[in-house]
Amino acid sequence: MFSLAPLPYPHDALEPVMSERTLHFHHEKHHGGYVKTLNALLSEADIVPDTLEEVIAAAESGGNRALFNTAAQVRNHSFFWDAMTPERAPPAGDLAKAIALQLGGFQALKAELVAAGVAQFGSGWVWLVADHAGALAVTVSHDADDWRGETGATPLMVCDVWEHAYYLDHQNDRKGFLEAWFEALPNWAFADKQYAAAQGRGKKWRHPAAA
Ligand SMILES: [Fe+2]
Repeated sequence: MFSLAPLPYPHDALEPVMSERTLHFHHEKHHGGYVKTLNALLSEADIVPDTLEEVIAAAESGGNRALFNTAAQVRNHSFFWDAMTPERAPPAGDLAKAIALQLGGFQALKAELVAAGVAQFGSGWVWLVADHAGALAVTVSHDADDWRGETGATPLMVCDVWEHAYYLDHQNDRKGFLEAWFEALPNWAFADKQYAAAQGRGKKWRHPAAA
């Protein structure tokens, strides 16, 4: 059984970009709903996994789209919560240098990420990823899909651009949500650790295993 981990901060900690009300709906109802469905699907399937990553791989290779979508959404949301912080800070470390050298700096990354998120038709996620050589890229994924469109890439941060992420607070203004989110909420210390792990220094984030 997989469980819904508590948020790593209070529900009102990400205001005003994401309100306490949004966080309750998003975490308990949306993410929690995916966890319940995941456990129900696993109880019917012949998969006895230790890790969510194994569930996702097995669902994908077995063509079980319902299980893949549900499991990937559980993981995407867990990563999303862990990749944010209420303690606003600029990029730091090697990642800050790479953003400046490769992408033209913080504001250029913001513009690229916001444009990609706005251009994503329908629901999905916008990611900053890095490959094993440290090359950065902004990428988007549709619906429940994760970052693996970039072969071998490691996610550093993500923003949920499903309407449930922003509609209560920003209505249809996805661009305004993304701009405010990028300025305030990415956990750059987390992203820098992921950036090092992408290049073989340290462990990459993984979803908590089933208990
Ligand atoms: Fe979401």
